[in-house]
Amino acid sequence: MSISLSIIYLIATITFVIGLKKLGHPATAKNGNLIAAIGMGLAIAGTIFIHDLQVPTIIYVLIGLAIAIGSAIGAWMAIKVKMTKMPELVSLFNGFGGASAALIGLVEFSKNVGDKMQATTIVSGIIIGAITFSGSLIAWGKLNGSLKSVVKIPFHKIVNNLFLIGIIAFAVFMVTTGVNEQVFVGVLLATGLIYGILFVLPIGGADMPVVISLLNSLTGIAAAITGILYSNMVMLVGGILVGSAGIILTIAMCKGMNRTLGAVIFGSFGSTDTTAGENKRLGTIKKTNPSDAAIMMNYATNVIIVPGYGLAVAQAQHVIHELEELLTKKGVNVKYAIHPVAGRMPGHMNVLLAESNVDYSLLLEMDDINPQFKNTDVVLVVGANDVVNPAAHNDPSSPIYGMPILDVENAKNIIVNKRTMNAGYAGIENELFYNSKTVMLFGDAKDALTNLVSELKNM
Ligand code: TAP
Repeated sequence: MSISLSIIYLIATITFVIGLKKLGHPATAKNGNLIAAIGMGLAIAGTIFIHDLQVPTIIYVLIGLAIAIGSAIGAWMAIKVKMTKMPELVSLFNGFGGASAALIGLVEFSKNVGDKMQATTIVSGIIIGAITFSGSLIAWGKLNGSLKSVVKIPFHKIVNNLFLIGIIAFAVFMVTTGVNEQVFVGVLLATGLIYGILFVLPIGGADMPVVISLLNSLTGIAAAITGILYSNMVMLVGGILVGSAGIILTIAMCKGMNRTLGAVIFGSFGSTDTTAGENKRLGTIKKTNPSDAAIMMNYATNVIIVPGYGLAVAQAQHVIHELEELLTKKGVNVKYAIHPVAGRMPGHMNVLLAESNVDYSLLLEMDDINPQFKNTDVVLVVGANDVVNPAAHNDPSSPIYGMPILDVENAKNIIVNKRTMNAGYAGIENELFYNSKTVMLFGDAKDALTNLVSELKNM
């Protein structure tokens, strides 16, 4: 490899690391993404133009065409995607990453002449790529509703584990015997694809973000394997970064939900439980209306807004910002409390609120805001449920027991906006709604907040 290409790869690698670091904060995330994308562009251009490819010009034309078409489709999808549909898009992109790794494996398999190390890399790339591809497509189908949320496979834990062991045994056989007929590699690819389907099918739709993060990490590993195959450092480092970041994210999401990865993959969670608003154990709820809720907030000194999944569904991020600005003008201190797994994907609330230009300094993480609830006059919970459920502290039999939550119940007054008394993602009752300090403001978040804003404007 030429010195200039090595330098380009080094620069690209550095941009990936800087980009990843900057993605850690909403204020720098956009820039981080851009820096890493420029690095990736450099690496691609360097590989095509500086690498001594020794291919006819038509291949360059085809590569250029493929890049132009792919970039146009990717940009179009990313621009038009709604924030609530982001996990679907990520899932689809993951799938394509896996498919690329598997295709590279297929091409390289026929060229391999008995090098066992290389054969190991190739078969690993095919297996992981195929699993990621089909698994991501199933995840995508579940998220967009074209596939049923949970598909029961009898004894799926045993079936899946045996299937995986079978694939690994077959791959070991291929590497050790050095077979290189295409039919073997075809079988390997097909079994990888089937395993991806079997792996994701039984997992509940609501758990898909965790699965997508895991598959994302697998895509990274597949890319890293391809990097080894081509002795391409930038691909190797890029793949390792994606692989490790995906695993860290997966663990962070599981921790935020207080569930093990095993429980996500093999457990069932989120059966919807509809209740009527009266609960023998918890008591009755109190309803409020926009006018009374506006009065409470107007005369408060400190208000904390807790956004949740319902805010995202209702696309109420702009109106909540309007409410916050209105209250601030009236001299009320307003902050947002951000739970790490509020919503359905990592950083969901930060991204949503950033979209409506909420000042980042007003977004407080759970550990920073929790001590402040006791000095708060009014907490406005908008479309959040599990992340404010005190059962996580009080009820050892609850599936969310031990999950870190926002300590909303410590505030002096609590307004909860949601449409009904239906449960959230975890499918469980929330005693916060029955608390004597809580009033329920029923309705779609966008409508309820719009009414709240117009009441406040009239005060
Ligand atoms: P949830 O517990 O799911 O509660 C959301 C609430 O929003 C629901 O109870 C729903 O009640 C209400 N809602 C839905 N549409 C609404 C609308 N248009 N207007 C007003 N309210 C609406 O959400 P959360 O508190 O944000 O908690 C997140 C949950 O997702 C956690 O259990 C977490 O573990 C899980 N999860 C999160 C992630 C990440 S990384 N964020 C990943 C996987 C799973 P109604 O139907 O009565 O309106």
